Amino acid sequence: MIKLNDKTEARIDEIISKLTLKQKVGQMNQAVLWAGSEEYYIDRIRKGEIGTLICGLPNRSDDRSSEAERRRLLNSLQKAAIEESPCGIPLMFGADVVHSYDVCYPVPLASAASFDTELVEKCYRNIAEETSRDGLNWTFAPVLDLAHDPRWGRVVESGGEDPYLSGSMGAAIVRGFQGQLNSGRDLIACGKHFIGYGAMEGGRDYHNSDISDYFFNNWYTKPFKAAVDAGALTIMSSFNSVAGQPVTSSKKLLRDVLKNKMGFNGFVISDYDAVKQLKNQGVAEDDRDCARLAAIGGVDMEMVDNTYPKYLCELVKSGELDESVIDEAVRRVLRVKFASGLFDNPYRNDYDCDIEAHRADARQLASENVVLLKNNGILPLGENSKVFMTGPFLNERISHVGAWAGHYDLERIATYREAAAETVAKDKVSFSDSVFSETVMNEIPDDCDAVILFLGENMCCTGEAVSVADISVPKDQEELVRRARAKGIPVIGVFNFGRPRALGNVIDMLDAAVYGWHNGTMAAYGMLDVLYGRKNPCGKLPMTILRHIGQLPMYYNSLNTARSVNAYYGEGRSYYDMKTGPLYPFGYGLSYTRFEYSAPICSKTEISTDELECGKTVSVSVDVKNIGDISGKEVIQCYVRDHVGTMQRPVRQLCGFRKVEIAAGDTVSITFDIGMKELGYYGEDGVFAVEKGMFTVYTGENCLSENGIEIRVV
Ligand code: BGC
Repeated sequence: MIKLNDKTEARIDEIISKLTLKQKVGQMNQAVLWAGSEEYYIDRIRKGEIGTLICGLPNRSDDRSSEAERRRLLNSLQKAAIEESPCGIPLMFGADVVHSYDVCYPVPLASAASFDTELVEKCYRNIAEETSRDGLNWTFAPVLDLAHDPRWGRVVESGGEDPYLSGSMGAAIVRGFQGQLNSGRDLIACGKHFIGYGAMEGGRDYHNSDISDYFFNNWYTKPFKAAVDAGALTIMSSFNSVAGQPVTSSKKLLRDVLKNKMGFNGFVISDYDAVKQLKNQGVAEDDRDCARLAAIGGVDMEMVDNTYPKYLCELVKSGELDESVIDEAVRRVLRVKFASGLFDNPYRNDYDCDIEAHRADARQLASENVVLLKNNGILPLGENSKVFMTGPFLNERISHVGAWAGHYDLERIATYREAAAETVAKDKVSFSDSVFSETVMNEIPDDCDAVILFLGENMCCTGEAVSVADISVPKDQEELVRRARAKGIPVIGVFNFGRPRALGNVIDMLDAAVYGWHNGTMAAYGMLDVLYGRKNPCGKLPMTILRHIGQLPMYYNSLNTARSVNAYYGEGRSYYDMKTGPLYPFGYGLSYTRFEYSAPICSKTEISTDELECGKTVSVSVDVKNIGDISGKEVIQCYVRDHVGTMQRPVRQLCGFRKVEIAAGDTVSITFDIGMKELGYYGEDGVFAVEKGMFTVYTGENCLSENGIEIRVV
């Protein structure tokens, strides 16, 4: 929530009173930077026709000349805005800086798998520093959409299936991007896409969503609330509709929910071309109608469609739109421009960034999020193991960066082969570049201890508008696994997918399986660190891994069901033709050491609703001991189950996690405070309340943990 002092609020009033209607509409307009010459933009800025610009990223150049040119251009436009535009209002320059700039960090879904909010915040601080020196001051990220359908290409941009994890990651990204907001090294964050985009039918991008109020309040709004509370200054509305109402024109969603209920007082920007798409969605007749509906709905700034500049003034003059709608939108835009420090510090200057330190952070994150799924003891590889490496990702470079990456230094991204040649003794590793599985298998040396298959998907199969219908491991890769298996040598599968693929067609043929995502510039080093035990794996799944696509949708925090045939998470006999539970559950991930959990204890076993409403909590503590021989990190997870509610409650719901390093033989004690936020929920009436009754708080290594303690709310 933005808080400005009275003097600034008064200044905003003054500016609004001085601007003409057309100039106010100008503040609600986002133009594209690539549509004309510098003079063209300066002319429009002088006339007060542009509030913000969407920029795209400059080409990367070794001498930073194109970056310098970009900075010069943006500063020149800013100068025109400050010195020559009506009331000297600064511009915002936005771009999709999602997870990369000079260095490419893991895709957001992969970052979520680290369960390490501090490290994620640090990496996003790096991204803000790398980016702002080239002139930008705003990014369209983080993505806060819950992702329940791995067919959807944009799961790669999300924080996964759980509202709490997604919100925690979203908040960390917002803190990282925005920093102190006045250092000239920050980016204004934009939480997107509000709301329900990830619930679209069939995993088909831009499709409709139909979400009950119950799921909407308790699942979908939570990540956005977390980002708003962390200070996200802008929010992007989504393309989809929810229950028959396109979000772009939904007063209920944008005004009632986001602005009023959640207390968001920054501004809402529409998604690309989304205002005009109200015609395609069948709620507007023409562009004029689109502009009217979006403005009334609560879109404060229109991204590029140009219907606001064209029609808002005449809509006000004809009485179809109240001028107060315009004033409120402009107030929000100005609020963000003041809160972000742009009035005091509008220009961006060059400065040095410690890129090597940033690469080290990227490498840490690219190993911190690697999920060890299966290990029959072949991992970690000894430095003396003789290893044969092959597979379609062995020489892959660009796909490590994943979807929505830009500006990164492609030549500095190592392939697996290059990283192995650098970090593994020459006589201990051999490779095959062949793509024909038959040829490859003939090349395996007889004295080889293990075969590593680098599998995965091209980054072009993920991201916007690239959903896939089949999420199993591709047939040619399955064949490769089968042939390797037939050699009788241990086979390790390394998965580089931008989504959780259903692994049922290959998993049983592997001796070890490791999920490495699209992990950015340092992906190959991070993975080899894990395979060779230089780094003990500690990533956990932010989304369920299915056996088979037919299990969709499947997520861990589902509601109780009527008969045990459909018991929790598909266990029981949901399907007749296969094992029915997930292949790997949410929160799952192995380590090279083992952890032992004590039974949790709590500060008291009863708490009243009055106490909870006054902010009192119950402390639940658990001891976790590293009973293995090496140090390791564990993500200690805390889940709540509400046994009986007026509404059906999820069988488990993540409400906290802590990632800690535990030395061999050591024990750590972790405490979770369980209060109103953890025990309450939005009921049928849309009111958040806690109900009396029995709850179990589980502390464990994933969502299936049975290590619980009961608390009664009286
Ligand atoms: C995407 C947004 C993105 C925007 C601007 C849209 O197509 O949905 O996520 O921020 O384009 O590039």
